[in-house]
Amino acid sequence: MAHEWTAEKLAALLALPDFTEVYARADAVRHETVGDVVHIRAILEFSNHCRRQCRYCGLNSRNPHVTRYRMSEREIVESAEGAWKAGYRTLVMQSGEDPYFTAERLGGLVRAIKERTGLALTISCGEMPEADYAYLRECGADRYLLKHETADPAIYAALHPCGTLEARVACLRSLKRLGYETGSGFMIGLPGQTVRTITQDILLLADIGCDMAGIGPFIPHPDTPLKDVPEGSAEMAQRAVALARLVLPKANLPATTSLAVADKEARGQVFARGANVIMRKVTPDPYKGYYEIYPAAFPPTDVARERQELEEQIATLGRIPV
Ligand code: 5AD
Repeated sequence: MAHEWTAEKLAALLALPDFTEVYARADAVRHETVGDVVHIRAILEFSNHCRRQCRYCGLNSRNPHVTRYRMSEREIVESAEGAWKAGYRTLVMQSGEDPYFTAERLGGLVRAIKERTGLALTISCGEMPEADYAYLRECGADRYLLKHETADPAIYAALHPCGTLEARVACLRSLKRLGYETGSGFMIGLPGQTVRTITQDILLLADIGCDMAGIGPFIPHPDTPLKDVPEGSAEMAQRAVALARLVLPKANLPATTSLAVADKEARGQVFARGANVIMRKVTPDPYKGYYEIYPAAFPPTDVARERQELEEQIATLGRIPV
């Protein structure tokens, strides 16, 4: 029987001085619902051009210090094939909101990759008209990732000069309607955020019916208006993941990269606190280093070897890499 989760109940849990029991419950629910598998997904960041001005993001269009790149259609398809050959079965195709990549171009890429590989494809290219989402779905896209970032309309407005929470949520509902496996998510530590906001974030995921949710701490980027805001709490991010597991028992919940950046230990720990997914960049060098949403080091690596190492790390946690 599903719990009746309310903001009050979630807030009471978030305020607990010791979260050990909630983590254990989240781990038990994860074991029962999605099992002991950890899904490894590849992410290809094919363009860092972005028309938006999100105040937390290093790729926002007002940041002149970014080396902008746009991979060619051929490079994109080849990278997807490389991920397939390295053993990946899901590819997240992510970019900024780059007007060059119209729905028609993206649809062509989806078709080309589907013809050459058996990859499940997640698109993560921001807000589009519903007709474009529908077209991409027709071309074969399986999932869409679009984080709501914060469920507080005032905080959303302060951080996004180019959009509204209402528009963002409308996109998510369109995606659901069109039959996408739909992913959202939010950041921990945004200015003005309270425990109450985080409960609203989690309840919004449930209200949309999200199949996936990426939750991670805010990391300040030196070239953004939020450069002096302190980093979000890795502990609070993990608490939010654990509660998301309780509220959305079957969801796919990644151990986010930002969580690992904030706290190296946390990326392993969070798999015992509700998480069941991990993403790895397959973006080729040098582009990988230019996709700097927040500062993080991504040293050059071999896609196949990195995947092998990750599988070993997951096995050490007593889980099954897939
Ligand atoms: N810190 C942490 N996460 C960030 N994102 C964007 N900027 C930051 C930041 N400074 C996240 C957002 C976005 C995803 C691609 O990265 O949640 O949806």
